[in-house]
Amino acid sequence: MNQKRVLSGIRANGRLHLGNYLGAVKGMLSLQDNPDYETFYMVADLHSINVPYEPLGFRQAVREVVLDYLAAGLDPEKSTIFIQSEVPEHVELSYLFSTVITVARMQHLPTFKEKVKAYPENVNMALLYYPVLMAADILAYKAGLVPVGIDQEPHLEIAREVAQKMNDRYGLALPEPVRFATPGEYVPSLTGAGKMAKSVEGSAILLTDSLEDIKGRLAKLPTDSGKGGSVPTEGGVSNLFKFVELFLGEGRVNELRKQYMNEGVRYGEVKSEVAEVIYKELKPMQEMRAELEKDTNKVDKIITEGAEKARKVASETLQEVKQAMGLV
Ligand code: TRP
Repeated sequence: MNQKRVLSGIRANGRLHLGNYLGAVKGMLSLQDNPDYETFYMVADLHSINVPYEPLGFRQAVREVVLDYLAAGLDPEKSTIFIQSEVPEHVELSYLFSTVITVARMQHLPTFKEKVKAYPENVNMALLYYPVLMAADILAYKAGLVPVGIDQEPHLEIAREVAQKMNDRYGLALPEPVRFATPGEYVPSLTGAGKMAKSVEGSAILLTDSLEDIKGRLAKLPTDSGKGGSVPTEGGVSNLFKFVELFLGEGRVNELRKQYMNEGVRYGEVKSEVAEVIYKELKPMQEMRAELEKDTNKVDKIITEGAEKARKVASETLQEVKQAMGLV
């Protein structure tokens, strides 16, 4: 009974990559395996359509993320796995929540400003609304814990504000959700700048990449001559060292740091070493995925049952909120 609820989601604007895996999915897995928590994990399809996207095949892309989830170890026996748009209560709840948040507050969010910069021709209402829908995703389950990457912190702040205001104004008891962080949460981009992102060309290693793919992608990570007075703290070399730290450990990074300041680092060898360990971690998931791809019925059933289970909880919350707001 008294289990604490957890909710998380990933958008469907591309296949899952190593950044999603280390930053979000690993946290999702560890909470799923902890009996103190009841876990709800969704594919945020409604959060994926506020940027230009291809409707043809979109449903399939959403399904692919479900497969990625299952292959990574999310287990329908332990977690409720569902597709956001199949639980329409989220949208209804988000509208109710939008009454307590100002437009100015939304416009000042760094994530909104980034999207405005990236798509100046497409600053639509849904983009502004994004964090309110996310608050509804979380609060529909009264989830207190959200395993997501650090970039989502501003959105969680909105979810807390929504909870506070709804509680103050309407006497509800919604929790103020906090982020559940994983140790490997900052996975750098292969472009040498910023973090790994599916929207940036050449930035990511996908969970479905072969060893050759991974080697090819790492080969493009820009480096330098391999030698110098101090190891760069940003750019390609710094990112490569971060990968070494994440996958080979602190000890190996320290060795490389020494080499950099003495005889020099041979990047080709380091990249190939990193590629091998990454692939070793991904291989069992890829095998599991191949099995799931053959079993369409099983996946369909997981998706249908997930939505049913999620709706049960979300509709209860929605009813409570409507009652508190005097709508019923
Ligand atoms: N905004 C999240 C991201 O881009 C995806 C998301 C949507 C989400 N709704 C959520 C994450 C609710 C956690 C909880 O990664």
